[in-house]
Amino acid sequence: MLLRDVWKSYAFLGMSINILKGINMVAYRGEVVGIHGPSGSGKTTLLRIIAGLVRPDKGEVIVDGYNLNMLDEYGLALYRNNVCSYIPQDFAVIDTMTVYENVEVPLLLAGVDADVRRKKVMEILDYVGLKDKANLRTGKLSGGEKQRVAIGRALVTTPSVLLADEPTASLDWSNAIKVAELFLSIKKDFGTTIIIVTHDARLLEYVDRSMSLFEGVLKQISSPRL
Ligand SMILES: Nc1ncnc2c1ncn2[C@@H]1O[C@H](COP(=O)(O)OP(=O)(O)O)[C@@H](O)[C@H]1O
Ligand SMILES: [Mg+2]
Repeated sequence: MLLRDVWKSYAFLGMSINILKGINMVAYRGEVVGIHGPSGSGKTTLLRIIAGLVRPDKGEVIVDGYNLNMLDEYGLALYRNNVCSYIPQDFAVIDTMTVYENVEVPLLLAGVDADVRRKKVMEILDYVGLKDKANLRTGKLSGGEKQRVAIGRALVTTPSVLLADEPTASLDWSNAIKVAELFLSIKKDFGTTIIIVTHDARLLEYVDRSMSLFEGVLKQISSPRL
């Protein structure tokens, strides 16, 4: 993944405020990168740009050979469903649907055949440790379990990139460690490139490489562990 000179500003009280000021970044295939920054530093904006949910004002994002500037809205929808999965901070799981149904959604959108869908969803639920809860309503689960549903739903399409927005923000530390370890297993088992943004510096101990985002500037704070 390559980001080259990515800029983004928002209008605030009639003024244009630069949120991202020329972000340059490389993430290698199968690398887990942690980006640490305080609240309001632009972490979510950066992830949403990589996810193709927000267009930058300037600059390029190239993921798996796709230059996002070259994709129209339909192309970006396919990109999100096939190449790059984004896990929002609030998980965005649907409480009234079962665990199984939540994880199945991306495959339904992709028009995957029913038998293949069933096999794939069960495989992923087993992987994230929720096989026994497949038929429970997601609203009944704990925060840690909901996060696993969101991770399962992101992983079911076997994306090459997984983006996680503050994945441990609403978890206690022991559940946070479990989630961090799950990301490391995903990288190992699926070869996924994983970008985790967090305001919790403790999480950086679990990633291959860390960066900091502060006042719109991204800096590397540790070298690649390759
Ligand atoms: N859609 C938007 N419109 C206007 N301002 C926004 C929008 N999204 C984010 N911002 C502003 O951009 C800044 C960075 O936000 P965000 O990317 O959510 O930071 P973080 O995730 O690090 O907390 C904040 O000041 C926020 O208010
Ligand atoms: Mg955020």
